[in-house]
Amino acid sequence: MKTQVFFLLYIFLNKYLYSKKMKITLATDKPFAKEAVDKIKAIITDSGFEFGLLESYKTPQELIDEAKITDSLIIRSDLVTKDVINAGDRLKIVVRAGAGYDNVDLDAATQKGIVVMNTPGQNSNAVAELVFGTMVFMARTKFNGNSGTELKDKKIGIHAFGNVGRNVARIAKGFGMETYAFDAFVSPEDIQKDDVKALQSVQELYSECQYISLHIPANADTKKSIGFELLSKMPKNAVLVNTARKEVINEEDLLRIFESRKDFCYISDIAPDNASVLMEKYADRCFFTPKKIGAQTEEANVNAGIAAAVQIINFFENGDKKYQVNK
Ligand code: 3PG
Repeated sequence: MKTQVFFLLYIFLNKYLYSKKMKITLATDKPFAKEAVDKIKAIITDSGFEFGLLESYKTPQELIDEAKITDSLIIRSDLVTKDVINAGDRLKIVVRAGAGYDNVDLDAATQKGIVVMNTPGQNSNAVAELVFGTMVFMARTKFNGNSGTELKDKKIGIHAFGNVGRNVARIAKGFGMETYAFDAFVSPEDIQKDDVKALQSVQELYSECQYISLHIPANADTKKSIGFELLSKMPKNAVLVNTARKEVINEEDLLRIFESRKDFCYISDIAPDNASVLMEKYADRCFFTPKKIGAQTEEANVNAGIAAAVQIINFFENGDKKYQVNK
């Protein structure tokens, strides 16, 4: 009984002390849809916290300056560098409204005792839908009026079977595609539960499937890991769709593949660094978005933004660290 009373007192004091003082800043270089911003603001202010907004900022210094005067940040692919972290004297938590957190200096945050979280799954349907939008666009010769091809009965290999990969599998089945997957961290049994054929290795996946949809994160192990050897295994009329990160591709090898195979096509959500060379020589076989747009839908913005705000409020009020990624 005594413990319960203390616990309730602790929760009450946390709520009271924090809610009057804490600031939550939505800091997005690439702004969320207005509807999402309004909803995020409402949740934050209704819970008694102060709302800050830093949108479409022009220099890294603006994020550093905001970090100095806030207790928490909601970000997208904004670069939370060591300088941002070290400037944040009051900063306690950074939540990446999205999946990939390769844009946050986790070591610097951990050293300063700052919690970093992501919001897994919240924008994955948007990314998966883009995969198919771009695949159809390319299969139909960029809608230029020439005869194209269909996705039905083609094989798609999902490289990494997380939240986005699962959504890709669901949609692929609707298109009538044969769906395969490989994930170094998900067992074949778990993959098969989604009625997807699990392959034993990444080499097998690339050898089997005309379409490959990439969903690996960018980290020390995966950067530049998709190279010539793997891509040259792909069957005739190979299409690599990259809505993950451009950094996972070995771009020198990518150029070599284009040079050595006339049937290779590359779709990427955000242009590779060597985009101008590829577009100059192989424009018919490439498609690059002008900036990263996979999660750029109103629904994904609302889902990820609200999840981030709620996670921060729960962290301040109850010490909840469920989605922490820098443990
Ligand atoms: C993610 O990692 O969640 C996606 O790449 C989306 O990133 P964005 O929020 O910067 O568009």
